[in-house]
Amino acid sequence: MSRIPQTFIDDLLSRLDIVNIVDSRVKLKKTGKNYAACCPFHQEKTPSFTVSPDKQFYYCFGCGASGNALGFVMEYEREGFIEAVESLAKTAGMEVPREQNVEFAKQDFRRRKLFDTLEAASEFYQDKLKTHPQKHNAVKYLKGRGLSGQIAKDFGIGFAPPGRDNLLSSLGKNNESESLLIDSGLVIHKEEENKKYDRFRYRITFPIRDTRGRVIGFGGRVLGDDKPKYLNSPETDVFHKSQELYGLYEACKQRDLSSLIVVEGYMDVIALAQFDIRNAVATLGTACGEDHLKLAFRYVSEIIFCFDGDNAGRKAALRAFTNSLSSMEDGRQIKFLFLAEGQDPDSLVRQIGRDRFIEQTGLSIPLEEFLFDVAAEGIDIKSMDGRARFSKTAAPLIAKLPQGIFRELMFDNLARRTGLSREVLDELQNEKILLLEAQPKREPQPRKELRPGSEPQPKSAPQPNLETKAQIQPQPKEQSHAANETQLENEPSRNNTTDSDPGYQNAPYPEPYPDQIPPADDQSGYANRPPTQLNLRPQRKPTVELSAAEHATIILLEDPSLLSKLETPPQIEAGNDPDLLCLSEVINYLQKRPNSNFNNILGFWGGAKGIKQQQKLAKLMANQLLSTAKTINTYDSLSELSSTLETLSENHSQRNHQQELSTLKAIGLKNLSSEQKKRLIELSRS
Ligand code: UTP
Ligand code: MN
Repeated sequence: MSRIPQTFIDDLLSRLDIVNIVDSRVKLKKTGKNYAACCPFHQEKTPSFTVSPDKQFYYCFGCGASGNALGFVMEYEREGFIEAVESLAKTAGMEVPREQNVEFAKQDFRRRKLFDTLEAASEFYQDKLKTHPQKHNAVKYLKGRGLSGQIAKDFGIGFAPPGRDNLLSSLGKNNESESLLIDSGLVIHKEEENKKYDRFRYRITFPIRDTRGRVIGFGGRVLGDDKPKYLNSPETDVFHKSQELYGLYEACKQRDLSSLIVVEGYMDVIALAQFDIRNAVATLGTACGEDHLKLAFRYVSEIIFCFDGDNAGRKAALRAFTNSLSSMEDGRQIKFLFLAEGQDPDSLVRQIGRDRFIEQTGLSIPLEEFLFDVAAEGIDIKSMDGRARFSKTAAPLIAKLPQGIFRELMFDNLARRTGLSREVLDELQNEKILLLEAQPKREPQPRKELRPGSEPQPKSAPQPNLETKAQIQPQPKEQSHAANETQLENEPSRNNTTDSDPGYQNAPYPEPYPDQIPPADDQSGYANRPPTQLNLRPQRKPTVELSAAEHATIILLEDPSLLSKLETPPQIEAGNDPDLLCLSEVINYLQKRPNSNFNNILGFWGGAKGIKQQQKLAKLMANQLLSTAKTINTYDSLSELSSTLETLSENHSQRNHQQELSTLKAIGLKNLSSEQKKRLIELSRS
């Protein structure tokens, strides 16, 4: 594949009307000069999604989503850049030209081959689950875990047969295909001994897919109790653990996807899907990091963390919590659901069923509340000393939230809770973040060996703070999950896996464990938590006061041709000022491409690196569009621009003067040379 020339993209965008592009996907309503709708990227009841036909871009005042027609199609259709360009080109009846770049084309060719290899391996494993002489063990195992053939098919579950070279011998027929198997992590090459063998042997295989549905790696689970329980593909050119969420592709098939449940394991995702809860995803044996969250928030505005009720799960929740603070932009929600000791989402959903599981997720603790819980952990906040420690922990956590109303309200909330002034809290912001590690509940227990049903928890068991709220207790009177598994495994009708059967993946399979779902009115043992009273999330961002630099930026965005009409080309000394930096980038861009319009400018910053910049520009423009009362067109924009730029450069030289003055003063009159003295007098007069 090759690069698409920027000129083509500009041309394409100029031939399309964003109003049509959006309207064919989300019904728009005309509101004055613009169009509006309820935002397709977050949930809302009143429309804050705006499309501007003049500027050919969209902006949501609720969640900040923004971009041009291309960006919209990428977000809405969940397409990559190239795909979106291609589909828009089709709409416009244009052919996409390509710039050939040999190195890029080579790399891309290799990546495609890796994808093909991984896809072929996935088909191989799935086929083995249907045809291998030892498939019965695998099928029995999956049935024992309550999975239907349909779910196995949906998730592409397969079987890596026992033996060292099943995959290698059937897919690695020549040197090239062998090296592809090695590069895709499916075959291990021990160079010292010149040995090559299959990575996954005698395991259930779970293909990991990227959001476009391409297989990028695998997880493999042992059928019995051997170690390690799970093997995962290593990092490869196409698989980066810290950037992928298992199950996201499958979850994205839901049209009305609005939230994601983040769990720990493959089987948690699949068990929830078996109960028709199809929005669970898992990190792949790593902590949920900022990249995972960024990925997840591309598709939903709400994330619910639901980790295992064991020490590792609690640690994972704390880590996910600290990693998620910086993602909490206005309009997003993160919640935490804590499970009782020994439970994981898989065991819980089998025990309480779909409806009550969903009910429980509705009772999970929002991040804003969890933050204060975490900060108060182990502290008596009634005492003065306790409040001091509490504020020292909470302030730096709140400081990690992105700038915005939510962050401000959290600081206000902390001020109320502690009685400290905002100034004092501001000083505490830079304290080091120190969180208590989650403590083991009783004796440390081997992970996952605990069967929830068979070893009921006393309801009065003491719970550490972190879990008292949304914790779910197992049902003491339930039959054990282990007992049911045994019962199913011995049930002849469900174990009928002779070669003549239609194959596990195609076999319809009744709802697993219907007898385990307690009646809906049985609330005993469940934490009944009233929905949270805190509603800190603002619906709309307020109109912002513009800085001089932003003002100048807007004038230029409104009419880029003004730049070349200025008498003197502007010289911006941006320093670290983000507004000035933004302005100077826009100016640089326009100096190189004087004929650009706002949409070109947005498109230029639309790449992965420029998202922040693009959002800033879009936000500026959106605010401008809304405040038509003081629209710039009502006065002479060229003189407005030049006077604003003048103010900026005056401010700048004033700042320089001030600096020079204080440097000279600091040297002290006695020590100045006559030259310096003259300058000092000059500066003091001006
Ligand atoms: P768990 O140990 O919680 O497994 O690991 P689980 O999901 O409950 O598995 P089942 O129910 O016994 O089948 C959670 C996740 O951690 C990673 C895997 O991604 C797993 O899904 N893991 C676990 C490994 O990578 N290797 C291991 O040996 C164990
Ligand atoms: Mn499990």
